[in-house]
Amino acid sequence: MFRLDGKTALVTGASQGIGRAIARRLATQGAKVVLAARGVGKLEALAEEIRDGGGQALPLGLDVSQTAGVAARLRELPADFAEVDILVNNAGITRDSLLARMSLEQWEEVLTTNLTGSFAVTREFMRSMIRRRWGRVIFISSVVGLMGNIGQVNYGASKAGMIGFSKSLAREMGSRGVTSNVVAPGFIETAMTEEMTEQARKDLSKTIVMRRFGTAEEVAATTLFLASEEAGYITGEVINVSGGMYI
Ligand SMILES: NC(=O)c1ccc[n+]([C@@H]2O[C@H](COP(=O)([O-])OP(=O)(O)OC[C@H]3O[C@@H](n4cnc5c(N)ncnc54)[C@H](OP(=O)(O)O)[C@@H]3O)[C@@H](O)[C@H]2O)c1
Repeated sequence: MFRLDGKTALVTGASQGIGRAIARRLATQGAKVVLAARGVGKLEALAEEIRDGGGQALPLGLDVSQTAGVAARLRELPADFAEVDILVNNAGITRDSLLARMSLEQWEEVLTTNLTGSFAVTREFMRSMIRRRWGRVIFISSVVGLMGNIGQVNYGASKAGMIGFSKSLAREMGSRGVTSNVVAPGFIETAMTEEMTEQARKDLSKTIVMRRFGTAEEVAATTLFLASEEAGYITGEVINVSGGMYI
């Protein structure tokens, strides 16, 4: 089940954390994977690891926040990786601050990377998915886009924006065989959450039904399901992978 042989996937933010776990998982299931992020060194190491395991991967230096240049960069993909069937919009950043102290720059940086970056990358692959009458677009949003969080009006707005984007795209593309869905993780063990103090972790864990943070592999498993043939009748959905933090 959930085999992806013959499919090509592109994962943004594949150099670490959730994106890396997703890329590994899709590759293990047989997809060729384009690994996109700014830090090419980490991508090359991951590509080598995937190739050593018998998979196919291509590192691609891509800054999704440089939205004007995204299309040109993606058009440079070699022919054997250019026809992307599965797109995972995972690249994301935080620039937390209470609203009263938040600069316009903090707002724009987060909206540009998380939301406009997803727009620039997704738009580029729509025509070829329509032509092939098959596609999977998956957005890695956050439960913060659904429930809000103190200090994250920029991040929450970007993540809620991804949900509206995905639902609209689902309506546009359903008749062409392309699905669009959102994975909304809760607190996951990655670089994004590792700076928290032990006390903050303990306090937060009390708000999670499963009483623990999730793993990147748990987010990857849901993403794989949505990417698969088996999920072909699921579109416009939001699946929370939050251990019951948001129900
Ligand atoms: N960790 C959590 O608890 C959690 C919870 C809910 C949602 N999420 C979401 O899950 C996604 C991944 O988070 P994570 O925890 O794995 O974060 P992470 O460890 O900080 O990784 C973020 C990834 O995004 C890439 N990235 C950042 N800016 C980019 C840009 N301008 N262009 C291209 N790539 C860029 C980074 O690579 P480079 O720096 O090399 O570019 C990195 O690979 C994010 O969208 C995040 O909002 C995370």
